[in-house]
Amino acid sequence: MRKNIVAGNWKMNTTVPEGVALAKEVNAALKGTKANCDVIICVPFTHLVPVNDVIDNTVLGLGAENCADHASGAYTGEVSAPMVASTGARYVILGHSERRQYYGETSETLREKVALALENGLTPIFCIGEVLEERENGTYNEVVRKQIEEGLFNLCAEGFSKIILAYEPVWAIGTGKTATADQAEDMHAFIRSVIEEKYGKEVAENTSILYGGSCKPSNAKELFAKPDVDGGLIGGASLKCADFMGIVEAFN
Ligand code: 13P
Repeated sequence: MRKNIVAGNWKMNTTVPEGVALAKEVNAALKGTKANCDVIICVPFTHLVPVNDVIDNTVLGLGAENCADHASGAYTGEVSAPMVASTGARYVILGHSERRQYYGETSETLREKVALALENGLTPIFCIGEVLEERENGTYNEVVRKQIEEGLFNLCAEGFSKIILAYEPVWAIGTGKTATADQAEDMHAFIRSVIEEKYGKEVAENTSILYGGSCKPSNAKELFAKPDVDGGLIGGASLKCADFMGIVEAFN
């Protein structure tokens, strides 16, 4: 059966000492409780090694927020999937809407990144989601279908079964405006049906689909209670240990 997962996306926040302190706090909080889900933090590249040094991978998984679309070479400023894997991280967020919007990431680049992540033993947390205009004009299902088909459907079933999906409606990210639990459930069920068409029922049922976008302790329980919502990808609320743990505890 698929896993329930709460993953933090720290984005471009915290210095290294601040990040290490936050990771230690989250790690300690998890050691003192019995989480009913997998818990992951995805941190800036600079933080991967020092954060990995202070966490216990049996209670807290570590991921990067991106990786390059090449394995190595003359790509100044980029960080490759083998480099990320060599830090001890096991996950990588790919295709976040902020990367698609601000850094021009296309499905073509994302296919390369996904392939390199998988080759290097990293689990991609692959993000999809529509912008406000697409929500309002009713094209959101087709937009999300296209993102999944173009970014992932080149994979064989074995490769696809290693992917975690994150549905993040762009209009809900950092806006305080969460999708309702029903809106999230409708989309997650649709996504699962798209996966089933391509890979069959077993793969679809085993795929974890996380919700992201202004998820907080106050709305997490209602969202996670929906049958096709398997957890959350958390931005702002992952930067405060108490808030992040409040979301983790929504599964208790
Ligand atoms: P917020 O939780 O800050 O809305 O961000 C969601 C997100 O983009 C996680 O990847």
